Amino acid sequence: MRVLITGASRGIGKNLAKYYKTKGYEVYGIARDAEKLKEVCDNYYVCDLSNLDEVSIVSKKLSNIKFDLIILNAGISSPHSRDFPPIEAFKKVFDVNLLSIHALLEHIDFKDSKLVFISSLASLLGAPTSLAYSASKRALNSYAESLYFAGIDVVLILPGFIKTDMTKNHNFYMPFLMDLDEATKRIVKMIEKDKFFNPFPLRFYYIIKLFSLLPNNLKRKILKKYVKSDIVE
Ligand SMILES: NC(=O)c1ccc[n+]([C@@H]2O[C@H](COP(=O)([O-])OP(=O)(O)OC[C@H]3O[C@@H](n4cnc5c(N)ncnc54)[C@H](OP(=O)(O)O)[C@@H]3O)[C@@H](O)[C@H]2O)c1
Repeated sequence: MRVLITGASRGIGKNLAKYYKTKGYEVYGIARDAEKLKEVCDNYYVCDLSNLDEVSIVSKKLSNIKFDLIILNAGISSPHSRDFPPIEAFKKVFDVNLLSIHALLEHIDFKDSKLVFISSLASLLGAPTSLAYSASKRALNSYAESLYFAGIDVVLILPGFIKTDMTKNHNFYMPFLMDLDEATKRIVKMIEKDKFFNPFPLRFYYIIKLFSLLPNNLKRKILKKYVKSDIVE
């Protein structure tokens, strides 16, 4: 059994790499930090996913390998800011969180693989302080859905807040913040279950769903009160 994991050097990706290694998988990892990849992967490719030419080279190198599981996990969040982000920062988020995925899959034969996309609950709400991140993850949901409806084996996972490097510098309240090992266990179960749409924790998901049912002008008033944005101030 063979698994390819992007972002296998840290956080969720590293934990998943460790798990699949203990289950006897041959683990292929992609990230920028070679030393950290070496710790958990049998084979690894040092690649900056914001450089799509580099990603294409890796994709070609992997074109003759059949993977049982491909976990598209690597991602970056834009700094949670009230500002309207400069295009360079905005584009980098889309390159890493979305376009690199297509560039990576381009030369890989994934028709018989299970594709796992790590999106985010942030994709369900266009939060005023994470313009690029929310938009990139919502686009990812649509991308995953297209492949699913095309008949590919796809698992889309939408986590809430998890304790990793990504969240360690957040200086705002993170509801239902999860421990990394607990979140990894839940992600592994979701991958095994074969259901397409997997938001978690469910309590947080239902709150977001309820909020989404409110009229848009009321949602805007609430967000304006509780999430300050300099875009309009
Ligand atoms: N943590 C959360 O609260 C949370 C919530 C919802 C969704 N998610 C999603 O879960 C996924 C994993 O997040 P995490 O919390 O585990 O983040 P993390 O601890 O910051 O790890 C991110 C991983 O992505 C890799 N990566 C980042 N930029 C890269 C680049 N330019 N090129 C290659 N690799 C790159 C990093 O490797 P190198 O630095 O070695 O390159 C690292 O292995 C992301 O897609 C994230 O959006 C996280």
